[in-house]
Amino acid sequence: MSATPPGILLRPARPADAPAIAAIVAEALRDKYRPALGAAAERAAAALLLRDLREMPGSRHLVAELDGRVAGAAHVMFEDDAGLGAVRALAAEVGWPGALRAVLVFSLLAHGRIGPDEAYIDELAVAPWARRRGVARALLWRCEHEARARGRARLTLLVTVTNDAARPLYASAGFREVRRIRWLAGRLLFRAPGAILMERRLAPG
Ligand SMILES: CC(C)(COP(=O)(O)OP(=O)(O)OC[C@H]1O[C@@H](n2cnc3c(N)ncnc32)[C@H](O)[C@@H]1OP(=O)(O)O)[C@@H](O)C(=O)NCCC(=O)NCCS
Repeated sequence: MSATPPGILLRPARPADAPAIAAIVAEALRDKYRPALGAAAERAAAALLLRDLREMPGSRHLVAELDGRVAGAAHVMFEDDAGLGAVRALAAEVGWPGALRAVLVFSLLAHGRIGPDEAYIDELAVAPWARRRGVARALLWRCEHEARARGRARLTLLVTVTNDAARPLYASAGFREVRRIRWLAGRLLFRAPGAILMERRLAPG
């Protein structure tokens, strides 16, 4: 992967970024957020982000600015989110039944345990006005950098089989298909017949 193109600034997310990031991910990843959280998607996404920044050292939220505006975001995870913190943060926004439903829906899009040699890209989204200008590729490069800095040997992610923008992006960034996941629930909830677990091996150094 190459370095950052001119005009794009990559940095860790800050609490003040929460509304901008939440607006981008809730819209760009609406096929995931709407079935999980309905109309509360944007504020719930902001609450989850703030909770991660406060409590999750094994999680890194990254932001890309383009021409001084937040243009995209990525979330890379180095360990599983095992506690109840995320459910509590969601429950404060949508109540406990809504929070449990959301966690169930999100769990369909998680690939299982994050291994000790692995960094998992949980989310990647770019605002429509900023697309096809290299923002996602730059964020992937930064995810790779973060993974190497933690000594991880693999960068993984899940993409739905119908995502015709993201699949060429990942292929051109060196990700290879590991396995396909077929799901009935996902077909109903996300309107996609399946997902693909992809992986990029990171050479040491
Ligand atoms: C997928 C997404 C993140 C791409 O962001 P982006 O900043 O526009 O991507 P980039 O400009 O870095 O594109 C890099 C490469 O990816 C591929 N690509 C990106 N968008 C594409 C599209 N709409 N169609 C085909 N290929 C595409 C191209 O190979 C592109 O290189 P090129 O522009 O030199 O041809 C963005 O479209 C998005 O946020 N989509 C909705 C959310 C989503 O699907 N996230 C991924 C979930 S797994």
